[in-house]
Amino acid sequence: MDEMGSLRRSRRGKENKEPYFGTYHHSTSTASRKIRIVVKAMFADAFAFLPFGRDEELMILDVGCGLGFLSCVSAEFYKNSRITGIDTFKHASLKRSSLQKAKENARILGFSNRIKFKKGDVFGFTPTEKFDIIVSNLVIHNFGKKRFEAYSRISSWAQTGSFFVIGDLFFSPKTDMAELAKAFKMVKQIKPKSGFRHYALLVMSKVKPTKKKYIRNAEKVGKSSKINHDM
Ligand SMILES: C[S@@+](CC[C@H](N)C(=O)[O-])C[C@H]1O[C@@H](n2cnc3c(N)ncnc32)[C@H](O)[C@@H]1O
Repeated sequence: MDEMGSLRRSRRGKENKEPYFGTYHHSTSTASRKIRIVVKAMFADAFAFLPFGRDEELMILDVGCGLGFLSCVSAEFYKNSRITGIDTFKHASLKRSSLQKAKENARILGFSNRIKFKKGDVFGFTPTEKFDIIVSNLVIHNFGKKRFEAYSRISSWAQTGSFFVIGDLFFSPKTDMAELAKAFKMVKQIKPKSGFRHYALLVMSKVKPTKKKYIRNAEKVGKSSKINHDM
């Protein structure tokens, strides 16, 4: 099993290349792959919970996209979405990362037409559009106290009806929740089943959606969509 296995099998066809999403800081290549398998399943759970159809033409932003792992997970889940991934591509938290390698991963998985990677810094990025979903994985804890500014900036890129889905290490969860509550309404928290100390995935919205909408979505997901956790 690998982090994008089902996609690799279904999309790559005769091409023999593997996507490689990199080695995280304080981790090994094998451990990083294992982390991504768990993280992918958690994001799939979070996406299934959102009040969007999987065919909707959503605009998604991946903050600190690295080699495009979460951009590809998002593109796979939301089949007609357009994803923008931004990264400085020079931070030590992902070894030997580059814009070219991120693009190559999207190409291998058949997502080049829907994923656009750009060099961009969270603290300087000024998008001209708003996003329906903003995702981020293992990025913002790197910012120390500046992470509060990052939360506020990210909030300005969302609109009513948008969601922020963040998977990260929360070393001071109470402080982070308080800061995040200034910008977003907490909808759901997903914790890994075991291990992954300090990691949590938070689903937040700009405006708290009605319960009815979620119940409808939960029914829809239950009936029609199979979430493949073995991807
Ligand atoms: C641990 S990696 C995670 C990459 C990717 N999200 C994943 O899950 O595979 C953290 C990423 O955040 C990026 N990053 C760090 N500071 C950033 C900043 N100020 N603006 C944009 N990206 C940043 C790094 O370059 C790195 O690619």
